Amino acid sequence: MELSILTLCYLVGSVTFIIGLKMLSNPSSARNGNLLAAAGMTIAIIGTIFLYEEDGKKLGNYPWIFGGILIGGIIGTLAAKKVKMTAMPEMVSMFNGMGGACAALISAVEFDHIYQANKTLDFGNMADFIPAGHYLTIIAGAIIGSVSFAGSMIAWGKLSGKIKDMSFSGQHIVNLLVLLLVLVAGVFTYQYNVGFSHILFYTTVALALLYGVFFVMPIGGADMPVVISLLNSFTGVAAACGGFLYNNKVMLTGGILVGAAGTLLTILMCKAMNRSLKNVLIGSFGGSTASGGGAKKDQGAYKEITLSDTAVIMSYAHKVMIVPGYGLAVAQAQHACHELEKLLESKGVEVKYAIHPVAGRMPGHMNVLLAEADVSYDKLLEMEQANDEFATTDVVLVLGANDVVNPAAKTDTASPIYGMPILDVELAKNVIVNKRSMKPGYAGIENDLFFQPKTSMLFGDAKKVLQDLIGEIKNI
Ligand code: TAP
Repeated sequence: MELSILTLCYLVGSVTFIIGLKMLSNPSSARNGNLLAAAGMTIAIIGTIFLYEEDGKKLGNYPWIFGGILIGGIIGTLAAKKVKMTAMPEMVSMFNGMGGACAALISAVEFDHIYQANKTLDFGNMADFIPAGHYLTIIAGAIIGSVSFAGSMIAWGKLSGKIKDMSFSGQHIVNLLVLLLVLVAGVFTYQYNVGFSHILFYTTVALALLYGVFFVMPIGGADMPVVISLLNSFTGVAAACGGFLYNNKVMLTGGILVGAAGTLLTILMCKAMNRSLKNVLIGSFGGSTASGGGAKKDQGAYKEITLSDTAVIMSYAHKVMIVPGYGLAVAQAQHACHELEKLLESKGVEVKYAIHPVAGRMPGHMNVLLAEADVSYDKLLEMEQANDEFATTDVVLVLGANDVVNPAAKTDTASPIYGMPILDVELAKNVIVNKRSMKPGYAGIENDLFFQPKTSMLFGDAKKVLQDLIGEIKNI
């Protein structure tokens, strides 16, 4: 009876997870989707704690289990409440790393059970005590989880500016060698005398951790989002291995879904940047060699525009396209931006938003930011749609965006962002760029757009500029 209730709990957990994931694909349902999936997982976890039985014995260990849940719950809640929207990618990386570590620990515990039961037998090897499939699941969980943990920690350090990109010549060869060593150690663990197998197992884990560090260390700049979603999919696969080990359906479903979603996101982001995954992993786009781009060239002078001139141009425009970028998130200017949009519309101006897939610092960053301010979803144009509409746009207002509107991606073969599709804002009649200075964006390269004849710079913090602009437009 209890087993069937537990199975039901797992079914509820799996179904709510799938529905929740689907709901995450739209900002209006994302919050509820998250809550739904979390509620389902809570049911599955509570079910496991109180109903799971092995050889007629319940789990027990309640102080440890609830102690862990309490400590983890408090840390997670505080971290999520405190984190700034702009620091979300770091947090995602950190949490992803924790998932990888958990999956690796599950494998270590399972390996230890088998090792402890057989270590006194100094004949034979691991292959005599566990079937190959079972061992493969254990070692795959340990390796993939360790790579994901170490890689995510390095990604966290890089995104938060604590770790710098680092590479050396021949690093890709070294990386391949380390990966080869990981696999060899993994095979030896199974094939070598059981008495030494635990040393070999932990050697495999240590090498996998080293590989995770080496793998992420040279990748930098604009490629980090791809790496993070790839690591995310690794964690999913490692968790699915845990599901296989424990024959736990909800863990298996969760792991497979996270693995598949992470893989799809990786592919979509590579597509958005017009790059292959191989190129991201062994290329140097946006990496250390890229920062600063090619040689500095004299780009001439840029022109500035005043707030009152901006207000006039925008008020008398037929169509305005707003291009939000990372700076809009930094300034937390989304509400002011929405207010500007409503004000312009009340004057008969058509206002739309052009969303670049990697604007900001995480997938969907701009969508989430604008949804926070209740900007209607149907006003957001994807890159291709927006590019079709720029030619009929009177004013493009670039708000804290830089790399995603850099024409060097189309014209400068030496540029580290060459090949990345961008928003063709220069096709519009007027381009007004709001940022605080002439400093470069994330990829660390200068932007020709700022020096083009159609472009005017409107310097200042995005929130302050928008608030002042709203005041000016109201006076027209
Ligand atoms: P960026 O190229 O990073 O440019 C943002 C600009 O905002 C900066 O040039 C900065 O100039 C300006 N800014 C900062 N604070 C501001 C403020 N308070 N008010 C006004 N402007 C402000 O941003 P983007 O165009 O959105 O491009 C995103 C970049 O990040 C791409 O290279 C992308 O590959 C990378 N990336 C994306 C992701 C994902 S998944 N979205 C993840 C990691 C990295 P000033 O300092 O002069 O103000």
